[in-house]
Amino acid sequence: MPIITKFPVYDFENRLLVEAGTKLTPEFLAEFQAPQRKSYGAFPLISHGLIRDDLLHQFSTAPYDVIFSQSDKVADILAVMEQVRLPLPILQGLDYFRRHDFHTYRHMLMIFALSILIAGELEGRADLIHAKIAQSGPTHDLGKIAVPLATLLKKGPLTIREHDMLRHHTLTGYLLLAHYMQDTSNIAAIIARDHHERRNGSGYPGGIEQRDINVEITTVADIYDALIAQRPYRPVSFDNRTALEELTWMADRGEIGWDVVRVLISYNRRNKPSYKKFEVSLERRGHAPESNIYGKVINDHQEGE
Ligand SMILES: [Fe+2]
Ligand SMILES: [Fe+2]
Repeated sequence: MPIITKFPVYDFENRLLVEAGTKLTPEFLAEFQAPQRKSYGAFPLISHGLIRDDLLHQFSTAPYDVIFSQSDKVADILAVMEQVRLPLPILQGLDYFRRHDFHTYRHMLMIFALSILIAGELEGRADLIHAKIAQSGPTHDLGKIAVPLATLLKKGPLTIREHDMLRHHTLTGYLLLAHYMQDTSNIAAIIARDHHERRNGSGYPGGIEQRDINVEITTVADIYDALIAQRPYRPVSFDNRTALEELTWMADRGEIGWDVVRVLISYNRRNKPSYKKFEVSLERRGHAPESNIYGKVINDHQEGE
C-alpha cells in the first residue's frame, strides 16, 4: 500500500513539490526524481557554520561526555563526518533550526554522532554504508522545517491537526531530501521517512515492519536523545538510567532491535564492554518524569479551553 501525503510539501523557495493526498507510488517517485537541470552541489557539512564547535561542545556535556569519552573514537567519528557533503539548501535548513529551534538542531547533530558511533560498532568503520549512514543523521528530522515553530516549541498538548502535521515531518523530510539529492532511494531520504517505524509495525508513517539496520540505528539513537534532552513539552527530561530502561523495554516488546540498544548501553558504561558480552536487566528502577505530556493529543476545538 503506497503511503499518501496528508499535507502539501513545498521546497525551500516555497514552490509546491507534492500536493496533499498524493499516493507515493513507485511510478510517482520515478517521475519525482527525474533529473532536473539544476544541481544543488555538495558542500562539507562539518565545516558549515558552527557545526563542528557545537558538536564538540555537546560531546563534553552529560551524558554524552561518557558516551564519547574515548578520544580515538571521537577522532574516528570526526573523520567520518569530514566525508559528509550535502546540498547547500539542506545545510541552510540546519541553519534555520540553529536559529529558531535549537533543540531540533542539537538533536540532529547528536543523532549524527551517535549513528556513526553505533554503525562503527555494528558494521565496522569506514565502509561505504558507514559513510552513507553518517549522511543521514543530521537530516532525519529535516521535515520539521514545514511544521510551524509555534507547534515545534509548544509547551502544552498538541491538537490533532498539529500532531498530524508533526508526524508528517517523515514524509516531508523524505520528499525534500529526495528532491535536493535528486534520488528517491537515497539512504538519508529513506531514514527521514522510516525512522519512526518499528520492528513490530507499530510506528508511522507506513506502519511497516521495519528491519533495515541502517534505519534502526537512527531510530534508537533518536528515541534515546529525545528522552534525555530538554524538550518544551516537559519541565524535566528523563534521567539517563530511565531512558536506557525505556529502550530496553522497547526492545523486549519487539519494537526495536537488541543489538543497537546494547551498543548504546555499553557506551554509557565507563569501561565500554563488548555489546555482546554483558547481561541486560529488565528490572525497572528509574522513574519517568512527571508532567510529561509527550504524545498527549487534544481535539482541535479544545484548544484554548
Ligand atoms: Fe523524527
Ligand atoms: Fe529525531
